[in-house]
Amino acid sequence: MSNAQDSLDGLVTLDAGGAMICLSAPSGQRARILYAGPNVLNASAAQFLKLSAREHAPGGPEQPIAASMLNTIGTGHPSPPGLIAHRDGHDWALDPRVAQLSQDKHSLTLTTRDAQCAVEMAHTIRLHPASGVAQCSTQITNQGDAPLTLYWCAALCLPIDPRLTQITSFAGKWAGEFQTQSHDLVRGSFLQENRSGRTGHANYPGLYLGTAETGENHGHACAVHLGWSGNFRLRVDQLADGNIILQAGELLLPGEIQLQPGATYTAPPLHLCWSNAGYGGVTRRLHRFVRDQLLRPGPAKPVHYNSWEAVYFDHSPEKLMALADHAAAVGAERFVLDDGWFGARRSDKAGLGDWFVSSEVYPGGLKPLADHIRSLGMQFGLWFEPEMVNPDSDLYRAHPDWVLCVPGVESIASRHQLPLDLTRADVCDHLFERITALVAELGIDYIKWDKNRDIQHPGGEDGRAVMHIQVTALYALIDRIRSACPDLVIESCSSGGARADYGILHRTDRVWTSDNNDARARHAIMRGAAHFLPLSVLGNHVGPQRCHITGRQFDMAFRAGTAVFGHMAMEMDLTQESEIDRAILSDAIALHKRHRALIHTGDYHRLETPVHIVAAGIVAADRQEALYQIAVCDQHPTTHPPRLKFAGLDLQQSYAVHCVWPSAHEKPLGSFAGSALMQYGLQLPLTYPDTCLIYHLKAAL
Ligand code: GLA
Repeated sequence: MSNAQDSLDGLVTLDAGGAMICLSAPSGQRARILYAGPNVLNASAAQFLKLSAREHAPGGPEQPIAASMLNTIGTGHPSPPGLIAHRDGHDWALDPRVAQLSQDKHSLTLTTRDAQCAVEMAHTIRLHPASGVAQCSTQITNQGDAPLTLYWCAALCLPIDPRLTQITSFAGKWAGEFQTQSHDLVRGSFLQENRSGRTGHANYPGLYLGTAETGENHGHACAVHLGWSGNFRLRVDQLADGNIILQAGELLLPGEIQLQPGATYTAPPLHLCWSNAGYGGVTRRLHRFVRDQLLRPGPAKPVHYNSWEAVYFDHSPEKLMALADHAAAVGAERFVLDDGWFGARRSDKAGLGDWFVSSEVYPGGLKPLADHIRSLGMQFGLWFEPEMVNPDSDLYRAHPDWVLCVPGVESIASRHQLPLDLTRADVCDHLFERITALVAELGIDYIKWDKNRDIQHPGGEDGRAVMHIQVTALYALIDRIRSACPDLVIESCSSGGARADYGILHRTDRVWTSDNNDARARHAIMRGAAHFLPLSVLGNHVGPQRCHITGRQFDMAFRAGTAVFGHMAMEMDLTQESEIDRAILSDAIALHKRHRALIHTGDYHRLETPVHIVAAGIVAADRQEALYQIAVCDQHPTTHPPRLKFAGLDLQQSYAVHCVWPSAHEKPLGSFAGSALMQYGLQLPLTYPDTCLIYHLKAAL
């Protein structure tokens, strides 16, 4: 629709994909977001401006202080400021005014300026029409003639619908990523800070917000995600004036950003998404955005085999060739050789950084193994951890000055490795040369790009904090490698899922969701991660019978059924698995391949179940077909399991329902109305705990 009333000075409405953002930005005045949320029929910025007019509140300033884009200190707004900067203790009371505003169909650029403090801010907001996801970024330029110290710059100070007081955040740890936790917002602040020097295990840079009534399939929901692979801060403040303001941005270390005259800082992009169809509605919009805007289009994702939990550091060409034979026989389409193939890397204590094939372990080089893998019809993948070095390595002995550190500050030991300083051009040139040379020499199709430690003290050559440039230099290095090797597929791993944000996903193809292949634990991890990431990028591996993280043992049907939902792979010593188990694995891989297109492109629906059951479905866009995975993770507290209510189906359609996993329960169950399956539900069979059931539904004629 056109927003005729918005032709008034400085009123803008972006309206696409079911989302709407309205701004008031009159020339020479403060700019503010009037509305950001689901589309409001026939509304406009002009209407919101009038509707939101406030009067003087007793005991307060004579004129009510309206919010602005960054609620800067000079405006006097009571919110924590979205921009904190100063010039040697001066120019801190910033009060920017609108200098320029331009808009096209789905995006706007707003420039504001504080002429007295000589600071300019440029805000860009883009609405992706297919998903309704907004991408917002802010740039700060120092227009003065002395350096400007930046302490905090959020992408925006976003006004949130005051009904959205239920926050879901995603916390975790190594081998236990993406655990959802819910909180009630109270007057005051909800704050999450990540100082791990990577996206991190402990906090994910994303939140969901809902009202007290919002559910999976109904109600108003909002999601935010900061696309950044370094330190960050997320905060939601419920203010005394009744407003809720959300901010997300990079957490800067002291003195880290000193903008020289004329220099610009770009804050990481904030992604915003709203739905009136509950938390599930937001998830499906985000998945759409990731698929359309972040990922490269590509062919079906090959099922792969990863060598880590089969051999760890104990490589031998014979053993790996035997594993490749077994992997191909069960249906693998790619073989990824993990850590341990290079330099003196016979344990995690030495060799990291020496990206030369170990002649001790592979006297004939890696070519014979790579050729063997290809002769079996599989692609060849190789593990790297480019950003790190073991002190016991040739690289460190030659270049002890190539690491990040702060002289005189005790360095924190972490997996016997130190972070390299990517802000140095010679370091990045060296890594670029090593990786591209090996890609060319061995015909590598796939890289698992790992990063296995936090960076607490990112001091550069002069000892100043350089975490921001470290992240942008990493992005530039990956971009450079991708443009030199356009067919190379890259997986982002960081001790499992510690680098799985939209910033890294924009330049990689898959994330390693977690080192925890315990099939029971995996369901909660996948469910958490899928709040932001589609199953096509979430690596999900079948591990050994006894999980090396939890020590728990599960049968093959449970392990393999679990990995069907995701980017399926396996990671175990196949020579040690029984023939029967290899046959079960092979059946699960065949099932995944049969439904891979649906799993990787369909609409994801979390099902509402009792806590001991984790269930989700993937429904085709035309709702003619669907696949549901139901994991029974404990004993049923009742004598009989509950009825399972499906989601996402067409109420008018009938579906033929078939249990397709595990074989003990495999059978056609008949045809049922979509409405009955969703509103009445299907009685689950009696199973042991740790059973993964998969149902296939096909529209009946
Ligand atoms: C990390 C990864 C694992 C594996 C090891 C190798 O922990 O998450 O998958 O690659 O490193 O050292």
